[in-house]
Amino acid sequence: MSGAGDSVAATIATLPGDGVGPEVIAAAQAVLEAVASRFGHSLIFREALIGGAAIDATGNPLPNDTLALCREADGVLLGAVGGPRWDSPTAPVRPEQGLLGLRHALGLYANLRPVVPHRSLAGASPFRPEHLTNVDILVVRELTGGIYFGEKRLERDPADGRGGEIATDVCTYTTAEIERIVRVAAELALARRGRLTSVDKANVLETSRLWRRTVTRIIGDEFPDVAVEHMLVDSCAMHLVQRPAELDVLVTENMFGDILTDEAAVLAGSIGLLPSASLGAPAGRGRRSGLYEPIHGSAPTIAGRGIANPIGAILSAALLLRYSLGLEAEARAIERAVRLTVDEGVVTPDVSTDPARAASTGTVTGRVVWHASTTGPGEPAPATASDSAVLGTA
Ligand code: NAD
Ligand code: IPM
Ligand code: MN
Repeated sequence: MSGAGDSVAATIATLPGDGVGPEVIAAAQAVLEAVASRFGHSLIFREALIGGAAIDATGNPLPNDTLALCREADGVLLGAVGGPRWDSPTAPVRPEQGLLGLRHALGLYANLRPVVPHRSLAGASPFRPEHLTNVDILVVRELTGGIYFGEKRLERDPADGRGGEIATDVCTYTTAEIERIVRVAAELALARRGRLTSVDKANVLETSRLWRRTVTRIIGDEFPDVAVEHMLVDSCAMHLVQRPAELDVLVTENMFGDILTDEAAVLAGSIGLLPSASLGAPAGRGRRSGLYEPIHGSAPTIAGRGIANPIGAILSAALLLRYSLGLEAEARAIERAVRLTVDEGVVTPDVSTDPARAASTGTVTGRVVWHASTTGPGEPAPATASDSAVLGTA
């Protein structure tokens, strides 16, 4: 990435992947192009294979060329991986290994998943509209540790005469892994309402007891202004829907974060709306490597029909501008364009209360592009302390 005055030149790797991935990435790229042109930036997009598409083409869900491109790029935008075609339980390679391998190879340990229900989409959620007032949650999910990355074994069970097997997935966390994710979450909490909910299963798991002790120590020693509460994950699954407006920043380990964010998507109205940013350690010179993807999967049953909700991917592109390129005003321009589009009722069937009037992926995208290309009333003022500055990326 190089900056000349206000103008930025950057390379963005796009990894459309499988299912609805290519549809939502085309949408996000169109919006980025519109914003780049409006603000005078030069963005170069370079596409590469990942997931099932990469298995079909090369046998490898994360080809070396893809990883090399992602390492060079200023930001990576990913659609989704996976689908029934590659889902056999005995398959030697799986699309998901490509995504997990990429997160691990780039050291992207902090996965930020904001959940902010939009008022005009309240009808799409099963909750009463007043239940969703003031809901603004940021889930900070640890992304490169825990049971996802522990040793995995499948072996014959010698005690089972019928030839049964023993499957093992090891869950490990180190103090250092917990410390760094807690620091990210606490810094973000300080820039918000100052409340941090740490989610674990400390009544059962040793990893959770280390997690809880480490959270208490780091917050006590380094973040006296953050109010921390500890919550067991089963109880959190309940509180998340019972009193969502009281939650601010939630920090948790890899698998709990995966599950709780799909649940949180119900508050927003559709999983197709939620974006995410996966960040590594700051790399200096204003750069922080980042992978940006909607939290949804490849949605195979709606793929190719032009009805996938592109908003999760479009808002992920906004997070890329904010966290990897330090372009706060541009990120806000995209978020505003999404808000205006949704307020006009231009939405895909998953969040439409009137299926007969639901819009296609292309129509929603076109409207967001139009708003993102225009300055108008409600255009946000430049931020004073942006989220990217909070994380030291600006
Ligand atoms: P999914 O997120 O693909 O779909 C869950 C439900 O949400 C489905 O009803 C789907 O139609 C709907 N949905 C998802 N995205 C949508 C969108 N943009 N617009 C409208 N509706 C949308 O989850 P799944 O069905 O459990 O998984 C399907 C495949 O995706 C699996 O192979 C899984 O491993 C993979 N997956 C990938 C990612 C990723 O790449 N980050 C995330 C989750 C699941
Ligand atoms: C997600 C997905 C992935 C995860 C899968 C596809 C590996 O569910 O990004 O939420 O479990 O992290
Ligand atoms: Mn998930």
